Amino acid sequence: MNPARRPLICGNWKMYKGGLAGIELAQSVIAFAKELPKVDVVVAPPFTAIAAVGSVLEESRSTVGLAGQNLYPKNEGAFTGEISGPFLKEAGCAWVILGHSERRQYFAETDAFVADKVGAALGAGLCPIICVGETLEQRERGETLRVVKTQVEAFLDVIARALDGANAPVAIAYEPVWAIGTGKVAGPAEAEEVHQAIRTWLKNKSESLAEKTRILYGGSVKADNAAALLGCPNVDGALVGGASLDAGSFGAIARAAQPS
Ligand code: PGA
Repeated sequence: MNPARRPLICGNWKMYKGGLAGIELAQSVIAFAKELPKVDVVVAPPFTAIAAVGSVLEESRSTVGLAGQNLYPKNEGAFTGEISGPFLKEAGCAWVILGHSERRQYFAETDAFVADKVGAALGAGLCPIICVGETLEQRERGETLRVVKTQVEAFLDVIARALDGANAPVAIAYEPVWAIGTGKVAGPAEAEEVHQAIRTWLKNKSESLAEKTRILYGGSVKADNAAALLGCPNVDGALVGGASLDAGSFGAIARAAQPS
């Protein structure tokens, strides 16, 4: 296994577990993550729970990472309702999910805006998990690779500039929109095809970027399909929505990622 691409399992809590329930879930995640030293486990609570979950992680000296689900690409200012990269960092985050399809779809986020956010995250010292993926209509029209390539190319220069020696600055999550929250999961071969294409586009930019960037799969990852997906050569982890809200199923997915 390439050590720069340790398995990464991130739980995207979306707009769930905003208070006490988030702290309880984090405690259970901390407990199972102790048994999985070879997996990077990350949780992305809603903004209102980030500081509290961060304190719990710190008190228990947990290796579980903390992620925001979004940021606004300015450090501070008159942007009512928005949260900046430095705020996330100060609240204990090392990660931030960007360009999730729900943000692209419901909040009209464009490729250019997502690229701006990626730059802001890197500037704040956060590691972005950048989401890309095609809709069902696009897949049916045979446009999957073209759509995903356009999304990746929008931020490729930004991430290549940020690459330093040991670490890739980002993870990319391939999340086919038709698989998110639907129970329909891409088959391992379908996922691997897109992951391999993303790896090639990264390689065309920089060999080392391709070697070090973790490419996660997301979209209805569950305990019973995780092992097959995570077994694909270019699948370096998972971005998990629904199944991350239950410590039992999230733990089973993380265990499936633990290299033997
Ligand atoms: P899901 O969500 O696992 O519930 O399909 C994944 C995501 O939206 O990141």
